[in-house]
Amino acid sequence: MPYDLIVIGSGPGGYVCAIRAAQLGMKVAVVEKDKTFGGTCLNVGCIPSKALLHASELFDEAGEKFGKMGIKVGAPKLDLAAMMKFKDEGVDGNVKGVAFLLKKNKIDSFQGSGRIAAPGKVEVKAAAGETQTLDTKSIVIATGSDVARLRGVEIDEKRIVSSTGALVLEKVPERLLVVGAGVIGLELGSVWRRLGAEVVVVEFLDRILPGTDLDVAKNFQRILQKQGLSFKLSSKVTGVDTSGKKLKATVEPAAGGAAETIEGDVVLVAIGRVPFTEGLGLEDVGVQKDNRGRVVIDAHFATNVPGIYAIGDVIAGPMLAHKAEDEGVAVAEIIAGQAGHVNYDVIPNVVYTFPELATVGKSEEELKEAGITYNVGKFPFTANGRAKVNLQTEGFVKILADAKSDRVLGVHILGPDAGNMIAEAAVAMEFGAAAEDIARTCHAHPTLTEAVKEAALAAGKRSIHM
Ligand code: FAD
Ligand code: NAI
Repeated sequence: MPYDLIVIGSGPGGYVCAIRAAQLGMKVAVVEKDKTFGGTCLNVGCIPSKALLHASELFDEAGEKFGKMGIKVGAPKLDLAAMMKFKDEGVDGNVKGVAFLLKKNKIDSFQGSGRIAAPGKVEVKAAAGETQTLDTKSIVIATGSDVARLRGVEIDEKRIVSSTGALVLEKVPERLLVVGAGVIGLELGSVWRRLGAEVVVVEFLDRILPGTDLDVAKNFQRILQKQGLSFKLSSKVTGVDTSGKKLKATVEPAAGGAAETIEGDVVLVAIGRVPFTEGLGLEDVGVQKDNRGRVVIDAHFATNVPGIYAIGDVIAGPMLAHKAEDEGVAVAEIIAGQAGHVNYDVIPNVVYTFPELATVGKSEEELKEAGITYNVGKFPFTANGRAKVNLQTEGFVKILADAKSDRVLGVHILGPDAGNMIAEAAVAMEFGAAAEDIARTCHAHPTLTEAVKEAALAAGKRSIHM
């Protein structure tokens, strides 16, 4: 009997889609080419990077902050191999969790590379070479993304690494040269800085984290600089000489001009990710891609070929695990005849450094460009009681509210635990809240969330603690 749905790829998009489809009564199979389920996120992305960010943050705190709180532990010593084991065990637990969930939902899984032989036919080629063809009513492409390469710089995952290699370094580099001041550059740059590396970040643009509210990004850069990361903006790496003991990177002004050489022990290339569709056979079945290699879909995640859908990093939009998950749920519901939907105006985005940077909705630049007038409510953590007592006062909450209706259009939190706090803003925005709604909601004292309430008050020019 044919499947109702075959999902190709078991990342956060694919496995969540499969579970939702099974919940809705479909007969579902997942095809995954890697040995473990969970995709980029669980194996070489979100989960291992957050494990290292957590451990390195505690390492840093033990050295820098414990003494100030009356905890005497002496200088902490790094056991990198044990830290990597801690990270690997975290990954293992998570990928096994996905395997458990697939089984629990009676989803068949096939290990091998999936190719769409025709609409309704998926060919699975196992690592050993044998091939089988599965019949299905619908197919969801959830094959994710891969590292973007830098011309002239070959990633060997030893000395010149992508995020994948940067998660498994065997020793702390004396100097790490990061290419790209995006999310990966700042998160993994922070990890290795805390563990003792000198970190230099080379960024093509004249700012870090393009797309983020500029005022927030500038403040964030200042904080990171105080932690010891150094930035070379408006610059590009044009080559890396690997012949000597030290790597020698050629760095030029982005606009062209005299080159300089920066030495390093490891170079991390973190200039973005590209959709992954290799070997899927899209050309043969005629599935359309855009000029950036992304699978083109309509408002219902349907490609131009009937019965074939796509979600996650392989389509347009932010390359985020929770975006892929929500699309997985939506497409399963659509295939089941329901009204699945993703609200792209309310997708939180978090950089898990210390402090964290969490945003949802629009930046000031985006509002200006759209010609929308807005009020800004800002509240610094220096004025929040809990942040003060915890010695974590860097950063602020910034709320952008429509000048006419007071509706919340964007929330930007640079501060401790911002990633958890942004959920309140997302819920408020999903319900179409005004800044006043947040301001009139009782927030527990003493918590960092009071800064969100105060920023909402500030949007109406009536902050209490400032
Ligand atoms: P993927 O997770 O990439 O999964 C695709 C799966 O498809 C893979 O398992 C692949 O092996 C499989 N596949 C591909 N082709 C085939 C084929 N032909 N046959 C069978 N299987 C195939 N996002 C966040 O939201 N938060 C974070 O903290 C975060 N941290 C990150 C840290 C790093 C270092 C990186 C690299 C990424 C991070 N991301 C984070 C991004 C996140 O990992 C992706 O957005 C997410 O994994 C996308 O999910 P997906 O299901 O679309 O694809
Ligand atoms: P990115 O798109 O976030 O940042 C890439 C940076 O490199 C940009 O600032 C860009 O201007 C710069 N750049 C591009 N070409 C360059 C060049 N030749 N020289 C110097 N700089 C150059 O991509 P990144 O950091 O690689 O991350 C990839 C994806 O993974 C992101 O889209 C992100 O959504 C996702 N991710 C999410 C995380 C999270 O949610 N916490 C963590 C890590 C990754």
